[in-house]
Amino acid sequence: MALTQHQPSSSISIPRDIFPDGLKTTGQHPPLPEHIHPFEKFPTEITGPTVWKPEEYRDNPEKWTHQFTEAEIEELSVAADEFLRNKIPMTGISKSNFPLPNLSTRLHELRSDLLDGKGFILFKGFPVEKWGNHKSAIAYMGLGTYLGYFVSQNSRGHVLGHVKDLGEDPTQIDSVRIYRTNARQFFHADDSDIVGLLCIHRAREGGESDLVSSHHVYNVLAKERPDVLKTLTEPIWYFDRKGETSKGQEEYIKTSVVYLERGENPRVYTKWDPYYVRSLTRFSDAGIIPPLSAAQVEALEVLEATCNRVKLHMILEVGDIQFLANSHVLHARTAYVDHAPPTPRRHLMRLWLATPENEGGWKLPFWDSNEKKRGGIQVDDQAPVAPLDAE
Ligand SMILES: [Fe+2]
Repeated sequence: MALTQHQPSSSISIPRDIFPDGLKTTGQHPPLPEHIHPFEKFPTEITGPTVWKPEEYRDNPEKWTHQFTEAEIEELSVAADEFLRNKIPMTGISKSNFPLPNLSTRLHELRSDLLDGKGFILFKGFPVEKWGNHKSAIAYMGLGTYLGYFVSQNSRGHVLGHVKDLGEDPTQIDSVRIYRTNARQFFHADDSDIVGLLCIHRAREGGESDLVSSHHVYNVLAKERPDVLKTLTEPIWYFDRKGETSKGQEEYIKTSVVYLERGENPRVYTKWDPYYVRSLTRFSDAGIIPPLSAAQVEALEVLEATCNRVKLHMILEVGDIQFLANSHVLHARTAYVDHAPPTPRRHLMRLWLATPENEGGWKLPFWDSNEKKRGGIQVDDQAPVAPLDAE
């Protein structure tokens, strides 16, 4: 039986033969209307550790980089070997079957810094070449379980994503996910609380990473273009599901771009991807939804331009893992060109991790804020899979 959309998972039984860890990704939803607030309720300025300028970090990589120690790699290696010996499906990985007695302390601190601090970190020295894709994927997913619950990233149930150019046409933006192309990505957030990228192979050129504190961007806009900020807080934006739609769902979600958390002292939460907003002409041309207004088009251009002024540039080397918090960091990547065969193409393994509200995550304005696997992309009862390469 297909599970309906708005049932807390505690009230229903999740079929273990489909979802080995007993948890199902909840997917994307419009916000609850009572949690959409007028612009006047938003702060005039955001302060605290989530607000940062690139100058603070550009020449100080030690503030955001952690080189894995030999002992940490050994701990990950032992846990991954044991997991392999136990023949547990990768989609069943959890803290309990992937023990990290020492590294877990550091990961716990990192999780706080991701959720409530600057919102990003770069790990270096994951031995992907020595371990190969299978063991690397297990160690990476196992490490990820200490930051959040992995969620499905597409309609096929991929909980281990592969960012790779599959030759799909990036101009077909209503059906093609840009991570499967070599096209540039504008500043956006992924559909999860945390996103991880593990670099397996680099491109010949390009494919470099940029990130911004969306709270700093907010402050810049509040000073320079409050009209743009106001447009971004209005629930007038349609986001495409790009066909990754469960039975009974609309093909798009009507929502705002900038929200407030629920409860006391709400933080500003940003959820944005211009590709998903621009791809809906098949519905606006047919008169089903309104086209973007002039104010919306200007808002998305000003947002992108502002991000470009305050971005931190980062290059992922083989064996690097970047983790970002989508709540208050936006990211982009440059277009790239792959090496000619037989040199492997650019390949990043991607994790989308969920951090439910009752485990320290943000108080989101969605019905599933307390669900362990909140967010992500789930189509009907598609089972999770963790392929070792793009498919
Ligand atoms: Fe992304």
